[in-house]
Amino acid sequence: MKITKAVIPAAGLGTRVLPATKSIPKEMLPIVDKPAIQYIVEEAAAAGITDILIITGRGKSAMEDHFDRAPELEERLLRSGKQALCDEVAGISRIANIQYVRQKETKGLGHAVLCAKSFAGDDPFAVLYGDDVVIGEKSATGELCEAFERYGKGVLGLKKIPLDKIGKYSSVRYETGPDGEKQVGDMIEKPSPDQVMSPYAIIGRVVLPPSIFEILERTAPGAGGEIQLTDAMRELAVREGMIGVEYSGTRFDMGSKAGIIEAILTVGVSHPEIGPEVRELIRRMAASL
Ligand code: UTP
Repeated sequence: MKITKAVIPAAGLGTRVLPATKSIPKEMLPIVDKPAIQYIVEEAAAAGITDILIITGRGKSAMEDHFDRAPELEERLLRSGKQALCDEVAGISRIANIQYVRQKETKGLGHAVLCAKSFAGDDPFAVLYGDDVVIGEKSATGELCEAFERYGKGVLGLKKIPLDKIGKYSSVRYETGPDGEKQVGDMIEKPSPDQVMSPYAIIGRVVLPPSIFEILERTAPGAGGEIQLTDAMRELAVREGMIGVEYSGTRFDMGSKAGIIEAILTVGVSHPEIGPEVRELIRRMAASL
């Protein structure tokens, strides 16, 4: 079955990048000249997703404005002969059909996904975490959707994490299937060293069947007192099995200060307009360190 719907949870408070995120959603922080959320919406569209639900919260309306038309701005750009920029700005509103719903209290990622129940209906859907930007030749969401279409099971986007850092993430248990695929049967959020099941953590992207909602509705708060999506996906994996896919792109954690810098530098060095300047800047800085 082809996946055409995606959910982007973007209601979190972004406390790790305060005070920048006091009034600006972290999803709107720019990677050079494009906000993080636009990279994520473009990745979904590149996977063939046509309908997107963004889970927002109070103080996050800048995201809705970004994906809307801006007639005054477009007219000004046209009048000053900036046709290409005008087309680019207007084109943002046509990337996908985007709807919004508010998560009234930030009770966790699992709770945010539950807000998408009526949007998803009986369809499987992709989830793209709003602060994880993935840059690569292929759409990471597309790689996960292909696995869903092939195996008919929920899919987890995985990355290998150094064992001394995996406690901040999650860890999955898997067996290698006949095609070399990872058949995931168990997982844990924020494992202590003795709970680590493998070096693979669920990072930023999953594809879920609609049966996840019935599980989420009775998932109790877990790590950090939040309703954890990982806890609900664990039950799904035990019951129906899930597939793990190590997607090929590079993931940037836009919810952390170092992740933001890494994303900006990575995009900056190959940016068509400022790439040479950024490379020169980095050389100068490296020489003085
Ligand atoms: P995070 O836990 O990284 O986001 O959630 P956060 O709560 O904003 O992080 P802190 O405060 O810096 O620690 C991963 C994704 O899930 C969304 C976030 O917006 C982020 O994109 N999220 C998280 C929600 O939509 N609702 C929630 O209740 C929690």
